[in-house]
Amino acid sequence: GKGNYRHFMEKELHEHPAVLGDTLRQYLDPKTLEVRLPRLPFDPVRVPRLTISACGSAFIAGQVGRYWIEQLARLPVDADVASEFRYRDPPLAEGGAAILVSQSGETADTMAALKLLKHAGQKVLSVVNVPESSMARESDGAVLTVAGPEIGVASTKAFTAQLAVLACLAIGFGRARRELSTLDEGRLTQALLQVPSHAAEILEKDAQIRDLAAEVAKARDVLFLGRGSLYPIALEGALKLKEISYIHAEGYAAGEMKHGPIALIDNQVPVIALCPSGPLFEKTASNLQEAAARGGRIFAFTDADGAGPLSRFAERVIELPKVGAFSTPILYAIPVQLLAYHVAVLKGTDVDQPRNLAKSVTVE
Ligand code: M6R
Repeated sequence: GKGNYRHFMEKELHEHPAVLGDTLRQYLDPKTLEVRLPRLPFDPVRVPRLTISACGSAFIAGQVGRYWIEQLARLPVDADVASEFRYRDPPLAEGGAAILVSQSGETADTMAALKLLKHAGQKVLSVVNVPESSMARESDGAVLTVAGPEIGVASTKAFTAQLAVLACLAIGFGRARRELSTLDEGRLTQALLQVPSHAAEILEKDAQIRDLAAEVAKARDVLFLGRGSLYPIALEGALKLKEISYIHAEGYAAGEMKHGPIALIDNQVPVIALCPSGPLFEKTASNLQEAAARGGRIFAFTDADGAGPLSRFAERVIELPKVGAFSTPILYAIPVQLLAYHVAVLKGTDVDQPRNLAKSVTVE
């Protein structure tokens, strides 16, 4: 049941710390700070190229996975939504492999991509939440997210659990390919091991996020901006908001805004910025300043170091724990999901069962 929560989605949002802990403990050794991957169906050292495919939020997790794997393991990755991948007839590398991501393990398009990949001689690893699902059974190997049952149609904890698994895979591949030292591995696994407690801290920002939701709920259109591995999280924020509050939202790479969407900016369009301090901060901050200069209302998620500079032009700044760039996508996913939740509650929509949507899309 829902326990003391109003909706399954709310309950599942509050399960983030536990689920992240359970999933990370499965693939990280907290004593040696090493990644412990299950047997993989391919050798990350030999594989020339990886394909990542999935649908919806699972695909967004896959996009973050692409950033991580390319960065940490220097392994080229193609990422494509399954409904496109299956008809695109892409040239696949000889000896290549694929990672498919799915909560249910039953999504029709992802299943079709799986069959096609196997038929083309690619080794397929699936990241799934349901161990007895079709995808888990038919893949060459499966890595499980330990999210437990997810009832709300909008994915929350399963999404961050997918990120946790992909982060472990990226470190493991990086180690295998000798792109990461033992020291790097220790630094990254330590950062991941702190994610559950940071997630709990973020959930304590609930009241601030609810206040922000009251502003967002009045809007007709909302823009989410992020850079690097937070660009996919901007997409996740927009997808979640559309899905459960029925407000039109778009996620954009911050630097891409001046190539079109900036024309939309006026004081009616809230801009939700994912802008932690770090190497990409100045770039994103200057994109946001451009939007503010055109009357845009900037609502920023950042950390203690980003808060000062951003509050010069942002209408509201919500401070999240300061963490290294590596773990920001997992942590910044939580407030954007929470924001969508509160907006939906304010709008009185059916949060757990949004119109026109199914939890598992088993038809094409
Ligand atoms: O079960 P799957 O992870 O394969 O589902 C994929 C998408 O249908 C799913 O993530 C969908 O986008 C969610 N409702 C998003 O919140």
